[in-house]
Amino acid sequence: MPLPIFQFEEYMTMKAKQVNRALDEAVPLQLPVKVHEAMRYSLLAGGKQLVEGDESSAMPIACALEMIHTMSLIHDDLPCMDNDDLRRGKPTNHIVFGEDTAILAGDALLTLAFEHVAAKTFNVSPDLVLQAIAELGSAVGSKGLVAGQIVDIDSEGKNVSLAELEYIHVHKTAKLLEASVVCGAIMGGGNMIDIERVRNYARCIGLLFQVVDDILDVTKSSTELGKTAGKDLVSDKATYPKLMGIDNAKKLATELVAQAIEELAYFDDARAAPLYHLANYIASRQN
Ligand code: FPP
Ligand code: MG
Repeated sequence: MPLPIFQFEEYMTMKAKQVNRALDEAVPLQLPVKVHEAMRYSLLAGGKQLVEGDESSAMPIACALEMIHTMSLIHDDLPCMDNDDLRRGKPTNHIVFGEDTAILAGDALLTLAFEHVAAKTFNVSPDLVLQAIAELGSAVGSKGLVAGQIVDIDSEGKNVSLAELEYIHVHKTAKLLEASVVCGAIMGGGNMIDIERVRNYARCIGLLFQVVDDILDVTKSSTELGKTAGKDLVSDKATYPKLMGIDNAKKLATELVAQAIEELAYFDDARAAPLYHLANYIASRQN
């Protein structure tokens, strides 16, 4: 299906600015200063925004998703996890504020996410807000992000099967994307069939993101990527090209984007345009 005309990059830039403004207001610098400074440091660092919220009624949940996304990265970088000292070109949270504060800043962002949706969502029926909160909780908990992270940690240094690799990515990467799109559909009053369709869409593009990431790592140079190329090979990480070969990985990417777009065929073209373009953007990104 031809893509409807849509200025995707301008749209994303505008949304990112709106969400950043809302996040700035949601987490003001207040007492105790140290933990709020640490929360703001990572939350307002820029980088990829996960959210797809447009109406003001969806803004609190959009902010909540960004808070959870940020906390997952703060904790992922800790010495007991990936022990990383650079994120989005800046020293990681625990390097700047210390491990104790980084853990607390993550905890505070995670809890604030739920408080923020419950306290600041107006003009949406309480039933729908509750449904969105439940979706959010299940996406990040022990059957969501936490599940992906623990299986990933447990798989280090072991031979990972294709099914295990998919499990890790579906939970670690796709779950939050899924929650973003599904919560948007819930808040917008989508019916159960709509919600399942956007859920399938998000799962496909979440996986697609990872497959493309793995392909770029072995096909592009560091200059083209803006980060170290070939890192997965050096660290002997389980990747799609490693497990199925580069050609099959490319074929899988094509199948995933087609599957994602198929799920959108039932929606009005204009309303689904950002999602069409997002899938296409993820599939064709070069860095
Ligand atoms: C980055 O992956 C990490 C994640 C996508 C999720 C990490 C999840 C947790 C730490 C659990 C968080 C807890 C709750 C309650 C949500 P990566 O290490 O593969 O990517 P990177 O190179 O960006 O670090
Ligand atoms: Mg990491």
